[in-house]
Amino acid sequence: MSSDPIIFKKKLISVVLTICVLLQFVFVAIIAFADGETNDVIRKVDSTMNVNDPVYSLFKRKRCAMCHGVDHTLVGPSFRAISMRYNGVGSTEIRTLAKKVMYGGVGNWGEMPMPPNSVTLSEAELLVRWILRLSHGEL
Ligand code: HEC
Repeated sequence: MSSDPIIFKKKLISVVLTICVLLQFVFVAIIAFADGETNDVIRKVDSTMNVNDPVYSLFKRKRCAMCHGVDHTLVGPSFRAISMRYNGVGSTEIRTLAKKVMYGGVGNWGEMPMPPNSVTLSEAELLVRWILRLSHGEL
């Protein structure tokens, strides 16, 4: 009998479970899609970078490639453009850029802000020095 509270509870549980399973499919699909895009960018970056550079693994772990391409503007400016603009700057400017990578910021390239990144100041400085080497054709 459908008015039986136990059967009703069982039905309710199975409906809830079905919804959970469906939602899981949706989430997995979204994550796979987002990851695929990131991997595409990383693959593009891979083909033009020296993968033996230890900073490279840092760059990959910190997911800078989600927003920065080597030669292409993505969410943020390309690494090439950044290295051209700051070609030859001294350690004070490098420290300023490293702080920007760490804390985030906006206004040097447009309206789109860079959010804070989970890097220490010395990691950020390594990354900035590594990006700036692009103007010397090293990557
Ligand atoms: C969510 C997107 C996003 C991520 C992730 C990201 N950036 Fe950026 N980045 C931006 C944007 C947008 C700008 C331009 C900010 C501006 O206009 O001042 C930028 C600017 C920069 C600049 C130039 C700053 C300046 O003042 O000229 C450097 C260097 C940089 N990013 C390095 C990195 C590094 C290294 C990482 C990884 C640790 C990283 N970014 C991760 C979006 C991102």
